[in-house]
Amino acid sequence: MKVIGCYNIKGGVGKTAAAVNLAYLSSLEGKRTLIMDLDPQGASSYYFKIKPKLKGGSKTLLKGEKEAELLIKGTGYIGLDLLPTDFSMRNMDILMEDKKKPTKLLRRFLKGITNQYDYVFIDCPPGISLVSENVFSAADALVIPTIPSTLSLRTLDQITRFCHENASQQLLLFPFFSMVDLRKQLHREIVDHPPAIPMKWLTSFIPYSSEIERMGIKRAPLISYAHKSRAALAYTSLWTEIRALLASHHENPKTVKPNLNNN
Ligand SMILES: Nc1ncnc2c1ncn2[C@@H]1O[C@H](COP(=O)(O)OP(=O)(O)OP(=O)(O)O)[C@@H](O)[C@H]1O
Ligand SMILES: [Mg+2]
Repeated sequence: MKVIGCYNIKGGVGKTAAAVNLAYLSSLEGKRTLIMDLDPQGASSYYFKIKPKLKGGSKTLLKGEKEAELLIKGTGYIGLDLLPTDFSMRNMDILMEDKKKPTKLLRRFLKGITNQYDYVFIDCPPGISLVSENVFSAADALVIPTIPSTLSLRTLDQITRFCHENASQQLLLFPFFSMVDLRKQLHREIVDHPPAIPMKWLTSFIPYSSEIERMGIKRAPLISYAHKSRAALAYTSLWTEIRALLASHHENPKTVKPNLNNN
């Protein structure tokens, strides 16, 4: 089972859109896929028309695999399940703090379901918190949607440094450009000549697209209703790239490991 966190400290950059569409693509390939909605806003639950409700509240997630597993719902798409969230998730940090090994709780839960899924996508809330540290410890890779702007690049640098100092060296960081508006000169410049970073930029990028915004009206993954759109093709290419990198890292763990000393 591979665990992929869709993460950024920044809000509104395309984390949920990526989690929903990448998870859907994985399920289309026949992979048993789970999407975990860890954001109290419940956007990915909303996109799959699943009520934002956790029976017993967020503390049920910490009780053990058996209780937490009962919270998982089918999405109606073959091979794609979702663990919904609700507003009680906003207190997750406080609940986690009181536990033993508070940064390893999510990892423990995922270990319990490791035989049931091929891929788990975690839709992370923005910010950096104990919940994010749990994701850093549980995930094989973080996919990091990054808007091509100076402040977003600065945030990417903060994430890289934080992970370098605090997360496992095994954690792969896959930044990609998101919401790219090629009418904007700055976006074009940054995408054409991405700044040097300690890991590699994914070569696929997600364009700014009103088709993606329409996911909120359709309440479905973009690829399910506009699979030929430019944005759908971009997500498909992104998924192909991520899947290949995860596979090559599995075979040769050194190939895509970030190295801050190169910078
Ligand atoms: N490539 C894109 N082009 C245009 N709109 C987009 C794109 N990606 C996402 N959006 C829209 O921008 C908004 C924010 O996207 P999304 O919810 O995926 O971001 P997020 O990083 O998960 O936000 P949050 O931090 O609030 O969880 C949504 O309305 C979404 O439909
Ligand atoms: Mg989101």
